[in-house]
Amino acid sequence: MFSSASLAINGGPAVYPGGLKRGKVFGEEEGQVVSDVMRSGVVSKAGSGPMVQRFEREFAGFHGMPFAIATTSGTTALHIAVSALEIGPGDEVIVPDLTFISTASVVLQNGAKVVLCDIDERTLTISTGDLLRKVNSRTKAVMVVHLYGRPANMQEILEITKPRGIAVVEDCAQAHGATIGGQKVGTFGDLGCFSFYQTKNMSCGEGGMVITNNETLARRCKSLTRHGLVGDDLSAYDYDKLGFNYSMTELQAAIGLVQLAKLDRLNQVRRRNAKLYRLHLSGLPMIRFQEDCSGHVNYCLTAVLRGNLAGERDRFLEAVRAEGILVNCLYPKALSGTKLCSGAEDRPATSGAVASSVFNLYTNPDITAHFVETCCAAIRKVCLASQEVSG
Ligand SMILES: Cc1ncc(COP(=O)(O)O)c(C=O)c1O
Repeated sequence: MFSSASLAINGGPAVYPGGLKRGKVFGEEEGQVVSDVMRSGVVSKAGSGPMVQRFEREFAGFHGMPFAIATTSGTTALHIAVSALEIGPGDEVIVPDLTFISTASVVLQNGAKVVLCDIDERTLTISTGDLLRKVNSRTKAVMVVHLYGRPANMQEILEITKPRGIAVVEDCAQAHGATIGGQKVGTFGDLGCFSFYQTKNMSCGEGGMVITNNETLARRCKSLTRHGLVGDDLSAYDYDKLGFNYSMTELQAAIGLVQLAKLDRLNQVRRRNAKLYRLHLSGLPMIRFQEDCSGHVNYCLTAVLRGNLAGERDRFLEAVRAEGILVNCLYPKALSGTKLCSGAEDRPATSGAVASSVFNLYTNPDITAHFVETCCAAIRKVCLASQEVSG
């Protein structure tokens, strides 16, 4: 299938022999605010410094929500969300089978059971059909992931969860600014969680945020980031619950504020890059893209191999990477295929099949139109060569 002599993997000429490179994530402004914070002398203040407070205010405001709680990462944002909901032993939490490990690991950290749910083959987000099959009286919450920047079907999800009193945590780690009917993701469920890891739609290196409109949950979340502190008085050293040290630093918050101001523009670039890939890769029957929608913020552009290339992703990526281009794979294994979750009672079928055929194209604002076009030339070359040889 990949034996054509024209392919770089077999000694043929590479599309981009030098190897494509990505650009820089941060600009001068981020550098400036970091040095301003350093000079101020306050780089961290247990989540109570002026930068963290402003970042929480502005992030909440961006979402039209009353409360935002800054954390050290997307994982710790998810962990305090699950902890604020008092999820623990005896509880079941439904998690889509195709996602980053944190969506499930925070549930396991709290001693609750993860029930893996299949995905919809077009949107690649949680399947509401399978969700309906998996809810029961022990279901305490559903983790909804807006995977690759594409909003999940919140209307159908809430129709299932609301009448049953099941909490919803939205994992928006890849979907800052994504919308459904004009409403931002993270504002539909009980708690919305974001990551500011380096690759995300907005970043501060490492960092996270929880948003909610529930004051009780918001207070619990803030307290959990500060060891279970009672109220806001750090000097009281009084605690009423088992908490964590998950407070964001002033440095992270200062960078986050700059990035938040740029977010809409950064998302526009991601969407434009995704459109360009789709244009240059149109007409290839062996590639199906994640279904698009108007509120998609294209953390990446996700493709699933089909036809004679279905299930051949690893060899396919080896061949396209040999052409000198950069492509990604989120995720090579569904959670049910990982060692951690291999004991799951159920191995969802669609997520398993997608995981062996999925790959992702970088849409990050640090890439150029030339980068996109070169990637597409290499992918087209490998796709056509695979067809040629297999007849
Ligand atoms: C879907 C998803 N959930 C959670 C996380 C965890 O975020 P972080 O890396 O900031 O801990 C990530 C980030 O990789 C993610 O992509």
